Amino acid sequence: MFFHTKQLQYPVRVDKPDPVYARQLQELIGGQFGEMAVMTQYLFQGWNLRGATDDERLRRIKDMLLDTATEEIGHVEMLATCVGMLLDGASPEQQEEAAKGDPVVYGVLSGMNPHHLIVSGLGARPVDSAGNPFNAGYTIGSGNVVADLYANVNAEMQGRLQAARLYEMTSDTGVRDMLSFLIARDRMHQNQWLAAIEELGGPTEVMPVPVTFPLEKEVQEVSYAFIDFSKDPDGASRRGRWAHGRSIDGKGRFTYVEQPTARGEAPALAAAPPTLHNALMGGPVGREKPARGKSERGKSVIDRVTDAIAGDEEQPQG
Ligand SMILES: [Fe+2]
Repeated sequence: MFFHTKQLQYPVRVDKPDPVYARQLQELIGGQFGEMAVMTQYLFQGWNLRGATDDERLRRIKDMLLDTATEEIGHVEMLATCVGMLLDGASPEQQEEAAKGDPVVYGVLSGMNPHHLIVSGLGARPVDSAGNPFNAGYTIGSGNVVADLYANVNAEMQGRLQAARLYEMTSDTGVRDMLSFLIARDRMHQNQWLAAIEELGGPTEVMPVPVTFPLEKEVQEVSYAFIDFSKDPDGASRRGRWAHGRSIDGKGRFTYVEQPTARGEAPALAAAPPTLHNALMGGPVGREKPARGKSERGKSVIDRVTDAIAGDEEQPQG
């Protein structure tokens, strides 16, 4: 259940309308790392977090996820209000009037999102600064709380980066004040997701994700190997932390592989069945089905490719 409070979380005001900046600010609403993205991401992560009734660690995280998701709804509300204020007084006539005079002014005015006039009638939209509709595919909710927490840290980093850029792009003191609040919250949110990871034991406890898949089932030779795929004789990457010493998950030691070797064979795919029409005129085609009485199992890849090239003779009749 959700309640709505009429007051905004933080004051929103603008010095003066600015329809072009209204368009730019849309990035923080409906962009890939905007408030709608973190709101949706945290809501679904919180709703989907299983096992929280039996595990105090998860219970706290679930509660925190939903607290912060709800906070993010309020951030969307603040930004939508701000966009509406920035659009105050914008009109098609205003653009036309400006066009008669100063072409630069016209250029600036025509930089507004026409949907702010035509579609929303001076209102914010769930879109980014280029007008792309918000896409729920931007969000991450995996069911693995650690993978999700790391995703949340990144979401707050990207969001804060974009908010800081938008702060630099305006001199409007009202807008800057609102952004300075959101940027501060993004600082806290980066910290709180990392604090949650720390509370779960930090990288040595939670990594690698998923921590439940056993090392014994991996090709362990490469589990902690940094492989240098560069031909550069002075590969700087060899000097990195990732090439030497204890691994970050604390379960192994990094090694450095200077010369990667190809362990596999050259890939050879059988020709496609004729009904897919991949073949050139007169070229090989695959069989529609395996030849009657012959099992495809137990044949080598080469045998199967040779059979496929031979193609037609082996095709079943009728
Ligand atoms: Fe936010």
